[in-house]
Amino acid sequence: TLDSIRQKVDDAVLCVPDFPKPGILFRDIMPIFKQPKLVSNICSAVASHLRESFPHGITAIAGLEARGFLFGPQIAILLDCIFVPIRKLGKLPGATIKASYVKEYGVDTVEIQQGILSPNDTVVIVDDLIATGGTMRAAMEVIEATQAKVIECFVLIELEALEGVKVLPEHCNFVTLLKH
Ligand code: ADE
Repeated sequence: TLDSIRQKVDDAVLCVPDFPKPGILFRDIMPIFKQPKLVSNICSAVASHLRESFPHGITAIAGLEARGFLFGPQIAILLDCIFVPIRKLGKLPGATIKASYVKEYGVDTVEIQQGILSPNDTVVIVDDLIATGGTMRAAMEVIEATQAKVIECFVLIELEALEGVKVLPEHCNFVTLLKH
Protein backbone atom coordinates (compact mmCIF):
# COMPACT_ATOMS: atom_id res chain seq x y z
CA THR A 1 0.00 0.00 0.00
CA LEU A 2 1.01 3.64 -0.32
CA ASP A 3 1.23 3.93 3.49
CA SER A 4 3.68 1.04 3.71
CA ILE A 5 6.19 2.54 1.24
CA ARG A 6 6.02 6.23 2.23
CA GLN A 7 8.81 6.04 4.82
CA LYS A 8 11.04 3.93 2.55
CA VAL A 9 10.72 6.47 -0.27
CA ASP A 10 11.44 9.30 2.17
CA ASP A 11 14.58 7.49 3.37
CA ALA A 12 15.78 6.88 -0.20
CA VAL A 13 15.29 10.44 -1.52
CA LEU A 14 18.43 12.55 -1.23
CA CYS A 15 18.02 16.26 -0.42
CA VAL A 16 20.83 18.25 -2.06
CA PRO A 17 21.26 21.89 -0.94
CA ASP A 18 21.95 24.63 -3.51
CA PHE A 19 21.35 22.51 -6.61
CA PRO A 20 20.97 23.46 -9.41
CA LYS A 21 21.12 27.01 -7.99
CA PRO A 22 21.84 28.61 -4.61
CA GLY A 23 18.81 28.43 -2.31
CA ILE A 24 17.20 25.39 -3.99
CA LEU A 25 16.92 22.18 -1.97
CA PHE A 26 16.93 19.58 -4.75
CA ARG A 27 15.14 16.27 -4.14
CA ASP A 28 17.18 13.61 -5.92
CA ILE A 29 14.91 10.62 -6.51
CA MET A 30 17.48 8.58 -8.44
CA PRO A 31 18.76 6.74 -5.32
CA ILE A 32 15.38 4.95 -5.34
CA PHE A 33 16.75 3.03 -8.34
CA LYS A 34 19.60 1.63 -6.26
CA GLN A 35 16.82 -0.45 -4.64
CA PRO A 36 15.05 -2.28 -7.47
CA LYS A 37 12.60 -3.92 -5.05
CA LEU A 38 11.59 -0.49 -3.80
CA VAL A 39 10.98 0.65 -7.40
CA SER A 40 8.82 -2.40 -7.96
CA ASN A 41 6.97 -1.89 -4.64
CA ILE A 42 6.29 1.76 -5.52
CA CYS A 43 4.82 0.87 -8.91
CA SER A 44 2.73 -1.98 -7.43
CA ALA A 45 1.43 0.25 -4.63
CA VAL A 46 0.45 3.01 -7.07
CA ALA A 47 -1.21 0.48 -9.39
CA SER A 48 -3.18 -1.04 -6.46
CA HIS A 49 -4.23 2.40 -5.28
CA LEU A 50 -5.47 3.25 -8.79
CA ARG A 51 -7.30 -0.09 -9.18
CA GLU A 52 -9.10 0.52 -5.88
CA SER A 53 -9.89 4.17 -6.61
CA PHE A 54 -11.13 3.49 -10.15
CA PRO A 55 -12.75 0.06 -10.33
CA HIS A 56 -14.25 0.98 -13.70
CA GLY A 57 -10.77 1.17 -15.08
CA ILE A 58 -8.13 3.54 -16.31
CA THR A 59 -7.42 3.58 -20.02
CA ALA A 60 -4.17 5.58 -19.97
CA ILE A 61 -1.28 6.68 -17.78
CA ALA A 62 0.24 9.96 -18.95
CA GLY A 63 3.81 10.58 -17.80
CA LEU A 64 5.64 13.88 -17.74
CA GLU A 65 9.10 14.13 -19.26
CA ALA A 66 11.57 13.25 -17.87
CA ARG A 67 11.15 11.68 -14.46
CA GLY A 68 7.51 10.74 -15.03
CA PHE A 69 8.91 8.35 -17.64
CA LEU A 70 10.72 6.41 -14.90
CA PHE A 71 7.49 5.28 -13.22
CA GLY A 72 4.60 5.90 -15.62
CA PRO A 73 5.25 3.09 -18.12
CA GLN A 74 5.76 0.55 -15.34
CA ILE A 75 2.44 1.51 -13.73
CA ALA A 76 0.73 1.39 -17.15
CA ILE A 77 2.01 -2.16 -17.73
CA LEU A 78 0.70 -3.30 -14.32
CA LEU A 79 -2.73 -1.81 -15.14
CA ASP A 80 -2.68 -3.10 -18.73
CA CYS A 81 -3.35 0.38 -20.10
CA ILE A 82 -1.55 2.60 -22.59
CA PHE A 83 1.25 5.02 -21.70
CA VAL A 84 1.09 8.52 -23.16
CA PRO A 85 4.26 10.63 -23.04
CA ILE A 86 3.81 14.33 -22.30
CA ARG A 87 6.97 15.90 -23.70
CA LYS A 88 8.77 19.21 -23.93
CA LEU A 89 8.23 21.17 -27.15
CA GLY A 90 9.69 19.76 -30.34
CA LYS A 91 10.33 16.14 -29.32
CA LEU A 92 7.23 14.47 -30.78
CA PRO A 93 6.68 13.95 -34.52
CA GLY A 94 3.42 14.71 -36.30
CA ALA A 95 0.53 16.90 -35.17
CA THR A 96 0.52 17.77 -31.47
CA ILE A 97 -1.58 19.51 -28.82
CA LYS A 98 0.38 22.12 -26.85
CA ALA A 99 0.06 24.02 -23.58
CA SER A 100 2.46 26.59 -22.17
CA TYR A 101 3.31 27.57 -18.63
CA VAL A 102 5.38 30.27 -17.00
CA LYS A 103 8.65 29.32 -15.36
CA GLU A 104 11.03 31.38 -13.26
CA TYR A 105 12.46 32.83 -16.47
CA GLY A 106 10.37 32.68 -19.62
CA VAL A 107 7.85 30.20 -20.90
CA ASP A 108 7.94 26.45 -21.44
CA THR A 109 5.63 24.29 -23.54
CA VAL A 110 4.54 20.65 -23.23
CA GLU A 111 2.79 18.59 -25.88
CA ILE A 112 1.16 15.26 -26.66
CA GLN A 113 0.58 13.65 -30.03
CA GLN A 114 -2.80 14.30 -31.60
CA GLY A 115 -5.08 11.28 -31.93
CA ILE A 116 -3.50 9.34 -29.06
CA LEU A 117 -6.42 10.03 -26.67
CA SER A 118 -10.16 10.32 -27.24
CA PRO A 119 -13.16 11.47 -25.15
CA ASN A 120 -13.70 7.92 -23.85
CA ASP A 121 -10.28 7.84 -22.18
CA THR A 122 -9.83 8.04 -18.41
CA VAL A 123 -6.32 9.24 -17.70
CA VAL A 124 -4.02 9.41 -14.67
CA ILE A 125 -1.10 11.85 -14.93
CA VAL A 126 2.04 10.63 -13.15
CA ASP A 127 5.14 12.58 -12.17
CA ASP A 128 7.88 12.31 -9.60
CA LEU A 129 7.41 15.72 -8.00
CA ILE A 130 5.21 18.81 -7.94
CA ALA A 131 6.89 22.15 -7.26
CA THR A 132 5.08 25.29 -8.51
CA GLY A 133 2.53 23.15 -10.38
CA GLY A 134 2.96 24.85 -13.76
CA THR A 135 3.97 21.69 -15.60
CA MET A 136 1.19 19.62 -14.04
CA ARG A 137 -1.37 22.26 -14.96
CA ALA A 138 -0.15 22.37 -18.57
CA ALA A 139 -0.23 18.54 -18.62
CA MET A 140 -3.90 18.61 -17.58
CA GLU A 141 -4.63 21.16 -20.30
CA VAL A 142 -3.19 19.06 -23.13
CA ILE A 143 -5.01 15.92 -21.94
CA GLU A 144 -8.32 17.72 -21.42
CA ALA A 145 -8.02 19.38 -24.84
CA THR A 146 -8.68 15.90 -26.29
CA GLN A 147 -11.92 15.67 -24.18
CA ALA A 148 -10.37 12.75 -22.29
CA LYS A 149 -10.97 12.83 -18.52
CA VAL A 150 -8.08 13.37 -16.09
CA ILE A 151 -9.30 11.29 -13.14
CA GLU A 152 -6.19 11.73 -10.97
CA CYS A 153 -2.81 13.47 -10.85
CA PHE A 154 -0.33 11.41 -8.85
CA VAL A 155 3.12 12.49 -7.66
CA LEU A 156 5.66 10.86 -5.38
CA ILE A 157 6.70 14.13 -3.70
CA GLU A 158 4.86 17.41 -3.17
CA LEU A 159 6.88 20.49 -2.18
CA GLU A 160 4.13 21.90 0.04
CA ALA A 161 5.67 25.33 0.59
CA LEU A 162 5.46 26.09 -3.15
CA GLU A 163 1.66 25.53 -3.11
CA GLY A 164 1.67 23.97 -6.57
CA VAL A 165 -1.68 22.30 -5.90
CA LYS A 166 -3.30 25.76 -5.83
CA VAL A 167 -2.58 26.41 -9.51
CA LEU A 168 -4.35 23.20 -10.55
CA PRO A 169 -8.00 23.39 -11.62
CA GLU A 170 -10.64 23.08 -8.88
CA HIS A 171 -11.88 19.75 -10.24
CA CYS A 172 -8.43 18.16 -10.10
CA ASN A 173 -8.12 15.01 -7.99
CA PHE A 174 -4.56 15.32 -6.73
CA VAL A 175 -2.78 12.53 -4.80
CA THR A 176 0.69 12.72 -3.21
CA LEU A 177 2.72 9.88 -1.70
CA LEU A 178 5.05 12.09 0.32
CA LYS A 179 4.89 15.74 1.42
CA HIS A 180 8.11 17.71 1.86
N1 ADE B 1 11.82 20.43 -9.64
C1 ADE B 1 11.47 21.64 -9.18
N2 ADE B 1 11.95 21.85 -7.96
C2 ADE B 1 12.63 20.73 -7.60
C3 ADE B 1 13.35 20.30 -6.44
N3 ADE B 1 13.48 21.10 -5.38
N4 ADE B 1 13.91 19.08 -6.45
C4 ADE B 1 13.78 18.28 -7.52
N5 ADE B 1 13.13 18.61 -8.63
C5 ADE B 1 12.55 19.82 -8.67
